[in-house]
Amino acid sequence: MAIACRNKRITLVKIRHSVGINDEIDLFIFVRMGGVGKSTLAQMIAVEFARAGWRVILIDMHRYQRNTLQWAGWRRERGIQPIIDTRRFERSNVDRHLTCDLLVFDDDPVLDGKSFNVAEMSDLVVIPTGESHHELRAQRAAAQQLVDHGVSPKKILIVLNRVLGSVFADTTARRFFAEGGFQVANTSLPTRRGFQVAPNGGLAITEAWHPTLKKIANDLATEIAFHVCPEGFVKPYTVYEIPDA
Ligand SMILES: Nc1ncnc2c1ncn2[C@@H]1O[C@H](COP(=O)(O)OP(=O)(O)OP(=O)(O)O)[C@@H](O)[C@H]1O
Ligand SMILES: [Mg+2]
Repeated sequence: MAIACRNKRITLVKIRHSVGINDEIDLFIFVRMGGVGKSTLAQMIAVEFARAGWRVILIDMHRYQRNTLQWAGWRRERGIQPIIDTRRFERSNVDRHLTCDLLVFDDDPVLDGKSFNVAEMSDLVVIPTGESHHELRAQRAAAQQLVDHGVSPKKILIVLNRVLGSVFADTTARRFFAEGGFQVANTSLPTRRGFQVAPNGGLAITEAWHPTLKKIANDLATEIAFHVCPEGFVKPYTVYEIPDA
C-alpha cells in the first residue's frame, strides 16, 4: 500500500532502528471498560501501519484473554500479509530495547499502574467508546484519570464505536467529550456484523469483506495515522484481496 505525504510518495515518515522504547512511536489503546473495541482498533492500526511498511510490534496486555495473540496466530496460519509481530505484555518488553517503528499496546480493561505508565510514554492514546451514557461517563472518566496522571489531553483520541446511526446520540457523545476537553475522531464505526466477524478470521476491520465497511475502517485508520504523523499521512482507499475463508 502506498503512503503519500502531502501528496508525495514517501517510504516512511519516521523510521527508527534499534532505538530505546521511549524513542518509539507508540500508540496505546486504553480503556477502562471491556468489549468496547480496543483489540479491534489495535489490530487495525497494527495492520495498516505494517502494510505501509512500518515495522510494528503489537503488545497484548490483557491479563486473562489472549485474543490479540490468537488473532495474530490465525493471521499467520492463514498466511495473511502482513504478518503482525504480536507479543504478550511482559515487564521486560517495555524495559528493554525493541526494534520497531511503532508499538501498539492493546490494553486490558482493568485500569492500573501499568496502563498509566504505558499511556505516559505513548505518543497517542486511543480510547474507544460506545454511545451509552454508562460508556460515555466511564470513558471520559478514564480519559480524565490519564490527564490527572500527567498525560496531555492532546495525546488522547476518542473513537466512537458500535454506533447505531442516531444523529442525536452522535451529537450528544461528541459534545460530552468536547466539554471534557477531549478530541473525538470524525469517523465513527457503526455496529456491523462484518466488523464483528473480521477478527475471527485473523483479519483487521480494514480487511472486512464489504467495501463500505472497508472504506469506513480505512477512513478511521487514515485519521489515526494523521494523529501519529501530523506532518501529513494520506492513505488512499485500497481494495484488498480477500483470502478464502
Ligand atoms: N463496530 C463493531 N461492530 C460489530 N462488532 C464489533 C464492533 N467493534 C467491535 N466489535 C466486536 O465486539 C467484541 C468486543 O470487541 P473487542 O474485542 O475489540 O473489545 P475489547 O475492548 O478489546 O474487549 P476486552 O476488554 O474484552 O479486551 C468483539 O467480538 C468485536 O468483534
Ligand atoms: Mg481486547
